Amino acid sequence: MILKTSLFITFEGVEGCGKSTQSRLLYRRLQKLAIPSVLIHEPGITALGKKITHLLKWAKYVNISPLSELLLFNTSRAQLLEEVVRPALKEGKIVICDRYTDSTIAYQGYGRGLDLDIVAEANRIATQGLTPDLTILLDVPVEKGLSRKEATAPDRFHAEKLNFHRRVGDGYLKLAVLEAERWLVIDGAQSKEAIAGIIRDKVTKLIASNK
Ligand code: TMP
Repeated sequence: MILKTSLFITFEGVEGCGKSTQSRLLYRRLQKLAIPSVLIHEPGITALGKKITHLLKWAKYVNISPLSELLLFNTSRAQLLEEVVRPALKEGKIVICDRYTDSTIAYQGYGRGLDLDIVAEANRIATQGLTPDLTILLDVPVEKGLSRKEATAPDRFHAEKLNFHRRVGDGYLKLAVLEAERWLVIDGAQSKEAIAGIIRDKVTKLIASNK
């Protein structure tokens, strides 16, 4: 029997928080249980998204203002929703997305300092109100996260000053308090296995309540 349950789960956190590892572990677990699911990450994936990602992360000689950044992330997001997320949810799949609109509030809102109402409005237009059923925040101190990424070449965001990353991290915690029922905040200092166990338990409950 194939268990079908349409759910939208997002992972969030500062640079190097471990969300890519944990989203992959969750995806593999669902695959093992034969639960139809897709794993995606923002802002890449679609052809348009890949081009936009390249600009946003690596453009050294192209000036990108915070407002343009906001719109570019949301352009990529609108395409991802149209091409991948909505069709998968319609087919009853679990969509696991590494970063979504909360990244935009944390990075472009709290990090870059754009007006939070403008960020919310841009997110709303791109998503047409599609909100995750569950958002998992891996909470790690920004210094620790950044040090984990030291070996990789710094992109435009990674290369930002420590204070920028601190504002992003604080922003996430504020968001999680504001909408506590949607967020699962996990202390990222725990082992990879312990974190995966917490996520597994939460998602199992969510699937059971969604049947
Ligand atoms: P990642 O592959 O390391 O998650 O790279 C994505 C980068 O883009 C990361 O530094 C966070 C940033 N970002 C934003 O600033 N706003 C957004 O809306 C999204 C999705 C990502």
